[in-house]
Amino acid sequence: MTIQLADILDDLHEDHRNMAVMLDLLERETGRIREGNKPDYELLHDIMRYLTVYSDAVHHPKEDIVYSAMKSKRPELAAGLERVEPEHEDIAKLGETLRNDIEAIASGAAVTRERIIEDSTDYVHRLRAHMLWEEEDLFRRADALVKDESLMFVDISHLDKLDPVFGPEREHSFANLLENIKDFSDS
Ligand SMILES: [Fe+2]
Ligand SMILES: [Fe+2]
Repeated sequence: MTIQLADILDDLHEDHRNMAVMLDLLERETGRIREGNKPDYELLHDIMRYLTVYSDAVHHPKEDIVYSAMKSKRPELAAGLERVEPEHEDIAKLGETLRNDIEAIASGAAVTRERIIEDSTDYVHRLRAHMLWEEEDLFRRADALVKDESLMFVDISHLDKLDPVFGPEREHSFANLLENIKDFSDS
């Protein structure tokens, strides 16, 4: 499946809006732990499943397509892009750590409140800062490339996995997460 570069950029902006909702929910549940209340562990697990399975596996590789086009077509727009890969790796690692904490709790292992709060806070801050950099700097530069290369098509067949939560076919296993997103946006 081939797609225009401009459409990839639109998808990326949309992913960021969805990921921001996930981070807000993650922060709300972490706040509950901080206050000594019980969070919704199933929800925490769904959030991390979405962020580690969809965002790390589809969103970041789609960004790589745009960033490598910037490097090859407009190298003057590519300053600092070498920082992207280590940041994606770091985010994936922090996400995996947090997901492991949550899975350990689900299987009855002892994970301290402090540890889960710390791991969640690190992850939220890291991912938010990364998305902010992309929205305010990298994607704006990518817009300049897209304007010049409006007819550039790229093959994304290897990334045709649909968004399991916000996409047209919602995965049943994310039903609890979807309910929470709905309540959260209504409030
Ligand atoms: Fe990124
Ligand atoms: Fe991103």
